[in-house]
Amino acid sequence: LQRVLTGITTSGTPHLGNYVGAVRPTVRASRLPDTQNFYFLADYHALIKTGGDPERVQRSTLEIAATWLACGLDPEKVTFYRQSDIPEIPELTWLLTCVTGKGLLNRAHAYKASVDKNHAAGEDPDAGVTAGLFMYPVLMAADILMFNAHQVPVGRDQIQHIEMARDIASSFNHLYGEHFTLPEAVTEDHVALLPGLDGRKMSKSYDNTIPLFAPKEQLRKLIMGILTDSRAPGEPKDTAGSALFQLYQAFASAEETAALAQAYADGIAWGEAKQVLFDRLEREIAPMREVYDALIQNPAQIEKTLKAGAEKARAIATPFTARLRHAVGLRSLA
Ligand code: TYM
Repeated sequence: LQRVLTGITTSGTPHLGNYVGAVRPTVRASRLPDTQNFYFLADYHALIKTGGDPERVQRSTLEIAATWLACGLDPEKVTFYRQSDIPEIPELTWLLTCVTGKGLLNRAHAYKASVDKNHAAGEDPDAGVTAGLFMYPVLMAADILMFNAHQVPVGRDQIQHIEMARDIASSFNHLYGEHFTLPEAVTEDHVALLPGLDGRKMSKSYDNTIPLFAPKEQLRKLIMGILTDSRAPGEPKDTAGSALFQLYQAFASAEETAALAQAYADGIAWGEAKQVLFDRLEREIAPMREVYDALIQNPAQIEKTLKAGAEKARAIATPFTARLRHAVGLRSLA
């Protein structure tokens, strides 16, 4: 039995990158035999990115939950919960903190990026860097190790965090015995890092995202705004480095992708290529959008679903945490 687990931070509106990197692969995995699935809303993580914006965290929690459900996740078949409903997670975070080298955390990309940016600007390296940002990988390790996940489907940007979770698990196991499974990141090659409107990684922090459930006309407008080069209709286009092409590839079959590559070589006009992308996206998204629009109107129902998921999750987390407390000596070893 393979345990599959992943989370999405509740810091914004779900976009196409979250969909191809996390939502779609998890819905697929949840339908495979012999898997046990844990999917959750990482709302503690959201506080790191959205400090001081409680409405946004609330709204995003609802949106991400509705997204997962609209995309076909069956909460009866999987354990679908909100991180902050599991008090054992912050407890495990502390146990793991105490076996985590500070040097390991110094190397985390997200923390390093902030420090490097300050450095480049000639400021105090730690300016504006919270201890929460520094500890981010340990909280994430607790998410994963609590349920002893084997596989963690993520986009490429999260791979380092999974490797850190492995390191942290090894340190704990070494000191206290084999309590944790070492998790592995699972990425889908051609969608591991979906570009956004400007060609950089699609990310809330770059403000270049395409919301998964943008209304149809807004979706069309956004697609028409994707950055392309200035080659005229009739001139051959490059697929390499084309954000438009990569977006298409993440949604289309191999055959459809080959056909667009041929059209690029034949000099398809950018406007026409964008229309092809829009039609393909709309075909996949429209039926789910309808479900989403209905779900988002019913927060009470979503709350109920999450509470039921939390009960299932705690049925595992509570006894496992008790075992860990014994292991580290917080309770008698008997
Ligand atoms: P988050 O919320 O930034 O992103 C959620 C998932 O979406 C993927 N993703 C992308 N994939 C492809 N192309 C993109 N442009 C793109 N943008 C985002 C991310 O890789 C991720 O899989 N720390 C995590 C949440 C988390 C978590 C966990 C994940 C908390 N605990 C435990 C796995 C296991 C995060 O902030 O993801």
